[in-house]
Amino acid sequence: MANAYLWIKAFHLIAVIFWMAGLLYLPRLFVYHSVATPGGELEHRMEEAEAKLLRIIMNPAMIVAFLLGLILLGYNMPPPIWLLIKVALAFGLIGYHGFLAKTRKGFLAGGRPRSEKFFRRINEIPALVTIAIVILAIVKPGF
Ligand code: HEM
Repeated sequence: MANAYLWIKAFHLIAVIFWMAGLLYLPRLFVYHSVATPGGELEHRMEEAEAKLLRIIMNPAMIVAFLLGLILLGYNMPPPIWLLIKVALAFGLIGYHGFLAKTRKGFLAGGRPRSEKFFRRINEIPALVTIAIVILAIVKPGF
């Protein structure tokens, strides 16, 4: 059983790494997209890259990370406080993922949903949340 738990945790982390890579990279694509000429070659390439990143990497990775996380949670009932906070922060990242997916649709509709500067700054959110989640998951502070 302990063995199964470790395998699930390993694949949870693998999925988390792919998901995080996308969460950090997609706003960078939005930066380029924001300055692209509407209807031009760069815009077309950015639309394609954003769609592929979301569909092929980010959506499947989020689903796998989330489902395996739920299974791990099932082993840890009742969850300690650090784990509850970790899971709450992970749900925050799911919300952020949803925000990015919605923003992509805004670009697709031909708009410029936010400024270039906004997309440069927004990366700080998942970066800080990730630092907090990893510290909670690894240090497991006893509160
Ligand atoms: C999507 C919802 C998520 C849920 C429900 C979830 C749940 C869990 C659970 C229950 C564990 C087992 C804890 C343990 O064995 O001590 C775990 C492990 C872990 N999770 Fe998640 N998680 C989620 C997302 C994330 C995210 C987004 C990250 C990183 C940014 C992350 C990083 C980790 C790490 C580093 C561990 C390993 C802890 C250890 O070494 O024991 N998880 N997760």
